[in-house]
Amino acid sequence: MNRKDFIITSTLTAFGMSTFGTIIRLPNGTFNGDCDTTNDIMGPFYRAEAPIRNDLTYEGLKGTKIQLKGTVYKSDCITPLENVLVEIWHCNAEGEYDNDSKDYNQRGRAITEDDGVYSFTTILPGKYLNGKLYRPAHIHYRVTEANSKELISQIYFKGDPHIDKDPWASLEKAKLRIVELKPEDINGNLMLNFDIYLQDK
Ligand SMILES: [Fe+2]
Repeated sequence: MNRKDFIITSTLTAFGMSTFGTIIRLPNGTFNGDCDTTNDIMGPFYRAEAPIRNDLTYEGLKGTKIQLKGTVYKSDCITPLENVLVEIWHCNAEGEYDNDSKDYNQRGRAITEDDGVYSFTTILPGKYLNGKLYRPAHIHYRVTEANSKELISQIYFKGDPHIDKDPWASLEKAKLRIVELKPEDINGNLMLNFDIYLQDK
């Protein structure tokens, strides 16, 4: 934070700074912030009605296992949202989507409880060609909640060399959606956290 930013946020009695922006306590005691998670393209491979499940792995699945979790917040940036439908889908380690099987592989839906938390166990996606360029590895999201605007987005992975030339991952607005895989899990799985901030309808 530079000095100018510090003065501005101090003047507005900032509640706190996060990597997502500023959260301000309003005179009426509520909060306001600029933490909205940005959108991304839906892509052609979405399938509705994927199973409600947290574990997208199965016997014989190739790839590096990852534990993906996060909390969904409302537009004030601090209140967890319950009854949020979090849908994810991604390709397998070979870069292929399951577009027609009844197993809906690497596709799942989860519904948050009052702590706003969602989680999935899956694998690190591979890559597929978009024209002549490989898209960076990514996971698609569709997030739906009764009082919030629907969010369609994607996350990417820090250090992926295909981000720079990708028309969507390289955008400024995608920066906060490039997440870090961390070796925190005691079983050697990679962990990643992606919190989601919805906008009011
Ligand atoms: Fe995709």
